[in-house]
Amino acid sequence: MNTPAPKAPKRVNVAILISGSGSNMEALVASMQAPDHPARPALVICNRPKAGGIERAKRLGVPVAIIDHNGFERREDFEAEMDKVLLDHDIDLICCAGFMRVLTPWFVSRWPKRILNIHPSLLPKFKGLNTHARALEANETEHGATVHWVSEELDGGAIIAQSRVPVKSGDTAQSLQERVLEIEHPLYVETLFKIANVFDK
Ligand code: GRF
Repeated sequence: MNTPAPKAPKRVNVAILISGSGSNMEALVASMQAPDHPARPALVICNRPKAGGIERAKRLGVPVAIIDHNGFERREDFEAEMDKVLLDHDIDLICCAGFMRVLTPWFVSRWPKRILNIHPSLLPKFKGLNTHARALEANETEHGATVHWVSEELDGGAIIAQSRVPVKSGDTAQSLQERVLEIEHPLYVETLFKIANVFDK
């Protein structure tokens, strides 16, 4: 009698939420394309119909759902649609990657310990927007990025990992943003790999 081959462990289904160019999304998708990765890129959701990340995701062969927040009167209605699409795709873990919508307590409570975000600062410093300009104004000598769990408090959830860059003399918000973006990709890729390896589905 033939013994059945052991079943391959089910991979963690990841959805990536984007609003913009999607360079972090691309780095995450590319990393999950490795055959032994514990997660798979199951879905990209974008809330801006003209975002550059949409074409990028399509090129990578990942299903894309465009859910324009402007089509909904209330934030919760927009999120209810996202929630439905996430459930339809059997999503386990959500990675926000340049997703420019604040998530409500309702949505966050639907996905406990299941939403990651990357933020372009060394949290708890510089929550919110314009982090690079604010780091320069504050005369910081170093800056960086943080991957954290999403909680009800904006950019306030538990910190998982950080990566640092020096602030150089003559830096502008733009040059600093570029330096930080470069280290965001490996930071998010490595953090997702670790989380997916121990993820309890
Ligand atoms: C990144 O700096 C991310 O940390 C911030 O928005 C930017 C998105 O860039 N929240 P991209 O869309 O991943 O290229």
